[in-house]
Amino acid sequence: MNELTPLEQYKKDTIDRVNAYTKNIPLQKNLKNFLDEAGKANYGFGFLWLGVPIIQVPQDLQALQEIIWDTKPELIIETGIAWGGSLLYKASMLSLLEMCGVIKEGHVLGIDIEIRPHNKNAISEHPMSKKITMLEGSSIDKKIIKEVIEFAKGKRTMICLDSNHTHEHVLNELKAYAPLVSKGCYCIVCDTSIENWADDMISDRPWGKGNNPKTAVWEYLDYLENNNNQSENGEIFKFKIDKYIHNQIMITGSPDGYLKRV
Ligand SMILES: C[S@@+](CC[C@H](N)C(=O)[O-])C[C@H]1O[C@@H](n2cnc3c(N)ncnc32)[C@H](O)[C@@H]1O
Repeated sequence: MNELTPLEQYKKDTIDRVNAYTKNIPLQKNLKNFLDEAGKANYGFGFLWLGVPIIQVPQDLQALQEIIWDTKPELIIETGIAWGGSLLYKASMLSLLEMCGVIKEGHVLGIDIEIRPHNKNAISEHPMSKKITMLEGSSIDKKIIKEVIEFAKGKRTMICLDSNHTHEHVLNELKAYAPLVSKGCYCIVCDTSIENWADDMISDRPWGKGNNPKTAVWEYLDYLENNNNQSENGEIFKFKIDKYIHNQIMITGSPDGYLKRV
C-alpha cells in the first residue's frame, strides 16, 4: 500500500475541506450575504500591491499565486492595467519563480486603452518595471492583437482578461487571446462576479446581469465545443472551468472565470 507523504496528506485533506464548504449551508448563506454587501461597498477597491492600487480581492491573489507556482508561465498577459498593481503583482510572482530557479526569465505584458500618465510613470519608475511591457490601445484592436501574438511566440503563456467587462468585448478578447494560452496554463476572466450581483446593485456601467464576462465565458466555451474545440486559426484545444478554485477561496471576483487549458 502506498503511504502518503505528510504534504500529500495535507493536500488531500484540503480537497476534502474545500468540498465540505460547498455543502455547508450556513457558510454559503453568510458568504452570499457578504458578497452582496461587499460588492455594494466596493470591497475590491481597497488594496495595494508594492505601494500601487490593485483592483482585486486578496483571495484571488492567493489563488493566482498557487496557479503561477503550479503552472510556471514565462509570460503573463493582462488586458486592463488601471493603476498597474496587477502588473506589479504578476511581475513579483515571476521574479519569485526566477529566484527559485523554476523559470529562466519571466515577463508581463499589459494592455490598456488609456494608460494615464501618473499610472504609466508610477509603473515605469517602479523597481519591478524591467519585467513589464505596456501597450496602449484597445485589446481587441487588430494591430494590438498582432503585437501580442508576436510577443507571446515561443513563451509559456498565461492570460488575464480584465478590461472592458461587456459580453461582446470579453468574447472578442477570448477569441483573440485564449489560443495563446499554453497547455496546462490558465486564462483568467475577471469580474465574472457581475452575473451574481445582488438584485438591488446599482451600476452606471454598460455591463450587468446577462451582459458580462461570465456570459462571455459561457458563449466562448459553447463556441469552442460547436467548433470541435478548434480556435479561429484551426488549433485544437479545450478549456475547463476550474471550479475548485472558486470553492476554495469563496470570495472571488472571478467565479467560473478560472479557465484551465487541458
Ligand atoms: C478593472 S480595470 C483593470 C484593473 C487591473 N487589472 C487591476 O487588477 O488592478 C479596467 C481597465 O480596463 C481598461 N479598458 C477599458 N476598455 C478597454 C479596452 N477596450 N482595451 C483595453 N483596456 C480597456 C480601462 O482603461 C481600465 O484601466
